[in-house]
Amino acid sequence: VGTGLLRRPFSVYRAKGDAVALLYRVVGRGTRWLAGVAPGDVLDALGPLGRPFAPPARGARLLLVGGGVGMAPLARYVEVHGGAGLRGVAGFRSAGQVAGLAPFLAAGVPLAITTEDGSRLAGPTPPEVVWRGGRPTDHLAAAIAGADRVLTCGPDPLMRAVAALAREAGVPCEASVERPMGCGIGVCLGCVLPVRGAGGEVTYARACREGPVLDAATVAW
Ligand SMILES: Cc1cc2nc3c(=O)[nH]c(=O)nc-3n(C[C@H](O)[C@H](O)[C@H](O)COP(=O)(O)OP(=O)(O)OC[C@H]3O[C@@H](n4cnc5c(N)ncnc54)[C@H](O)[C@@H]3O)c2cc1C
Ligand code: FES
Repeated sequence: VGTGLLRRPFSVYRAKGDAVALLYRVVGRGTRWLAGVAPGDVLDALGPLGRPFAPPARGARLLLVGGGVGMAPLARYVEVHGGAGLRGVAGFRSAGQVAGLAPFLAAGVPLAITTEDGSRLAGPTPPEVVWRGGRPTDHLAAAIAGADRVLTCGPDPLMRAVAALAREAGVPCEASVERPMGCGIGVCLGCVLPVRGAGGEVTYARACREGPVLDAATVAW
């Protein structure tokens, strides 16, 4: 972004041929600058980088739990792998922030959309979609129990809660962690986060290299 030296990390939301789509929220200088980019402007980008969610095993039942723009990598997962065996839970503050669901809808993935204020988009709801008030975690226990693996991306408190529910249910969970990044290629150590080894010892993982997708049970949330 044209606001200084540092790049900003974004998930690939959709991709086709040479085209890549991002889904981003304006939160500060960099994203504000990005929102002002015009067709034909040339940007300098680096990627794709890091470790993605593991592909689905044949016949596996996967639950995808996202919050806000954290839907982006989950939507890409659906776009790449198709919707068979997948269910989704997508959480937003309100209906006005709902975004990133097109690949879920195109693939017919059963989807629960939660809004904290209980609002919902006007117009017809596709048959595979249900609206619920509250947070995604309010509606997860049964869905996790019926899953072979959980994939999550969103704010840390959401992922921490999803990871805890998955651990209680004995279901493996992958989380795509979000850390500010300097270099994106494992050199600057600006993106490290604490993780626990097999013996419980705390070490550090680089979100840009060992992640951003990590085994949620190892993350010291
Ligand atoms: C692997 C990875 C994937 C990501 N994918 C996406 C994506 O697909 N879409 C997307 O919108 N964002 C994504 N992010 C987050 C995105 O990188 C940041 O929102 C962005 O760097 C903010 O830059 P900025 O210059 O606009 O804000 P800054 O000027 O750096 O920050 C401005 C203010 O916003 C706050 N802030 C910064 N980041 C966030 C955030 N994520 N949420 C809430 N507040 C924040 C800061 O604390 C600060 O107060 C991803 C991050 C990572 C690590
Ligand atoms: S961003 Fe530099 S090491 Fe990860």
